[in-house]
Amino acid sequence: MLKVKDLNVYYGVIHALKGIDFNVPENKIVTLIGSNGAGKSSTLKAVAGLVKPKGKISFLGHNIVGKRAYKITKQGLALVPEGRHVFVNLSITENLRMGAFGKKYSELKPLYKKAFDMFPILKERANQKAGTLSGGEQQMLALARALMSEPSLLMLDEPSLGLAPKIVAEVFDIIKSLNRGGMTILLVEQNAGLALKIADYAYVLENGAITLEGDAKSVLNNEQVRKSYLGEI
Ligand SMILES: Nc1ncnc2c1ncn2[C@@H]1O[C@H](COP(=O)(O)OP(=O)(O)OP(=O)(O)O)[C@@H](O)[C@H]1O
Ligand SMILES: [Mg+2]
Repeated sequence: MLKVKDLNVYYGVIHALKGIDFNVPENKIVTLIGSNGAGKSSTLKAVAGLVKPKGKISFLGHNIVGKRAYKITKQGLALVPEGRHVFVNLSITENLRMGAFGKKYSELKPLYKKAFDMFPILKERANQKAGTLSGGEQQMLALARALMSEPSLLMLDEPSLGLAPKIVAEVFDIIKSLNRGGMTILLVEQNAGLALKIADYAYVLENGAITLEGDAKSVLNNEQVRKSYLGEI
């Protein structure tokens, strides 16, 4: 579904991504793990059209390098950004409306229903400002907002960040059930243990380069990964 070749991202003189290659097959969960500053967010931003990369990115057979972010979303690719970035002064319903940017008014009703069925907590708070939600609720809202664009590929940047273990488990259950329903997922996580448990395939990113890839199970059992990312001595 997504094919990335020789992807490079520069921020001025900083060469953040140094020619990485990866693929995301349809209906799979692919994870990209790595420590702080490895280039995980830069990768997702490049795919989503939020930073301008060099290299090749093909989504459903179409080149998307150089396309505007909203056009890429329209093609079926949505990003749940690191740190959620909900619109704090807008209500939950208005945040969802933003996720459906470009859709016709008549298309909205079933999309709201789907979002509220999946996240009942958001229905209870529909008119509440998003800034008043807890971290976990904001993560749910960021996810629901991304789903409003009806993506075929959902990219999640550190969905577990700053959340209590119980909420993290809830978020990951939702990710798994979305995938069982046919959604293709590209998941970025610092919490490697969690990500590798739900993913089909994994890439390890270090200093802007991929140093290891394989079935998630084999990466989870890799000695170096266990030492560097799972805190085992
Ligand atoms: N806007 C920017 N301007 C300059 N440098 C940047 C910018 N954004 C990222 N970088 C640099 O690019 C590198 C990769 O950053 P990136 O945010 O992609 O890492 P990450 O793997 O997502 O890290 P984290 O786990 O902390 O979120 C880092 O060295 C970072 O300092
Ligand atoms: Mg990041």
